[in-house]
Amino acid sequence: MRISVIGCGYLGAVHAACMAKLGHDVVGIDVDARKIEELAAGRAPFYEPALEELLKEVQEKGRLSFSTDLAAAEGSKLHFVCVGTPQKKGENAADLTFVDAAVKGLLPYLAPGDVVVGKSTVPVGTAGRLAELVQAQQPGAHLAWNPEFLREGHAVSDTLSPDRFVYGVSDGSEDHPAVSILDEVYSTSIASGTPRLVTDHPTAELVKTAANSFLATKISFINAMAELCEAAGADVTQLADAIGIDDRIGRKFLNAGIGFGGGCLPKDIRAFMARAGELGADQALTFLREVDAINMRRRSRVVELTRELCGGSLLGARITVLGAAFKPDSDDVRDSPALSIAAQLQLQGAVVTVTDPKALPNAARRFPELQYETDTSAAVLKADALLLLTEWQEYRDLNPYELVESVSSPRVLDGRNVLDAAKWRAAGWIYRGLGRP
Ligand code: UDX
Repeated sequence: MRISVIGCGYLGAVHAACMAKLGHDVVGIDVDARKIEELAAGRAPFYEPALEELLKEVQEKGRLSFSTDLAAAEGSKLHFVCVGTPQKKGENAADLTFVDAAVKGLLPYLAPGDVVVGKSTVPVGTAGRLAELVQAQQPGAHLAWNPEFLREGHAVSDTLSPDRFVYGVSDGSEDHPAVSILDEVYSTSIASGTPRLVTDHPTAELVKTAANSFLATKISFINAMAELCEAAGADVTQLADAIGIDDRIGRKFLNAGIGFGGGCLPKDIRAFMARAGELGADQALTFLREVDAINMRRRSRVVELTRELCGGSLLGARITVLGAAFKPDSDDVRDSPALSIAAQLQLQGAVVTVTDPKALPNAARRFPELQYETDTSAAVLKADALLLLTEWQEYRDLNPYELVESVSSPRVLDGRNVLDAAKWRAAGWIYRGLGRP
């Protein structure tokens, strides 16, 4: 099938490459000429495991091309809208400028039978509004909402083998013409039994925001338990293991630490609250304010713990922050708790050095005032305290016995509760976890 993918960021570039891998003929379109140049040369403009190999593979087969011109979408049967919906400046609501521009820009190129497929996370009601625009321009075309659930760091495998598909169509019916077209596009996964639900537009939009809100709530729940564990002298990691065995609760997303960040969870829960307010249903989501507040409190808590660890003052303390990305296996620093903590420590007088295997160029653009060091051994040299804030495997594997020789004072704060506390203590370190005695 001929497919266009509008927006080639973390979502669209992966989606375009994966659709080509599934055998479709794909054009990726983005207004950013530099990004398109990189992608067309088979280079991923951001770090995502397995993406670059995939881009090269499908381009060699001639199944994926790139353009900065929306006219390249003409002739495609399906048009995936994968542009960003960031938080509006100074407000909680989502900024729909890019989604609106993508759909309006596509209108002149739509033919009867075409389907515009929204994948971006949008406030409920957006699909209905955009469907009217599509209908007015090309009555034979359709608009479906097909939310994306991929996780950064696993984006390629999540796109090729998703755990479910949700198709939101105007009448919510299996017989809607967009349903069979989407089934054809995703036939490989559908044939292997991946569940697929057909809903109306608002339900499909809400599925995405509800899922992200649930995940954020789960993380903040365990972080609230971490606060209690700290107050009571209990261990939140054992608590999570014990409650997680109950399969109604489940152990996943119960890792207490410095909290959630990234380009999705924080802005999605805020946009959801803003939209609920517009719909007169704000009370239903007031709990998300608490979820957000618990999450942000983790960052101040780490600053306070670091101060304690450094003997009561941060002034002049040499702090090494291990990890800048919002999660491992990604170079994404959007709303990264690790970087936000690094910046707060620096503001309070510490001398902060940040290291990360992939995210330093993005981190330096966002916080140019921090000091960055690519080499872990150089970064930890003469440190007064180490803070593990993004749990890259290489930081989990650090040898406390070797490291103790490099630092000035053997103090470590494990912001993700992933180090073996007993081993680090045995090697002579003062170890602090979050929500652990
Ligand atoms: C998330 C959703 O998981 C995905 O389905 C959706 O499509 C986009 O948003 P992503 O932002 O890639 O994906 O990251 P995710 O793996 O969900 O992690 C989000 C944040 O939560 C990270 O900062 C992570 O470190 C943190 N986290 C996750 C925890 O603090 N504890 C946990 O137990 C799990």
